[in-house]
Amino acid sequence: MPEFTYTHLGPKEVDFVAVGAADELANGQRLFVEIDDYSILVFNIAGEFFAIGDICSHDNGPLGDGELEGNEVICPRHGARFDVRNGEVKALPAVVDIPAYPVRVVDGQIEVGVPV
Ligand code: FES
Repeated sequence: MPEFTYTHLGPKEVDFVAVGAADELANGQRLFVEIDDYSILVFNIAGEFFAIGDICSHDNGPLGDGELEGNEVICPRHGARFDVRNGEVKALPAVVDIPAYPVRVVDGQIEVGVPV
């Protein structure tokens, strides 16, 4: 499992924070959120929601400005790729995974879990 994948953490190990209505984030769209000190990107990919850190591990590039291709986001600065489902690095020049956070939908609200 990639180093910073928090998606498997249980409800006692993360704080879930509501970030927006699920029906307002359409397929293929993204949402930028700040939770505590975390800058997080939330994606809707084919009706499933995923959350990753919004900073490229290569040189702090703005991943949220990058294109989405399948399940991978491409850093707009030098082209590194990351799997949005688990934060795993998929292409150079980055070599370090990025964080991936658990996401759930409760009462129509997307909630992102950050480690406590
Ligand atoms: S900052 Fe993202 S690939 Fe270099």
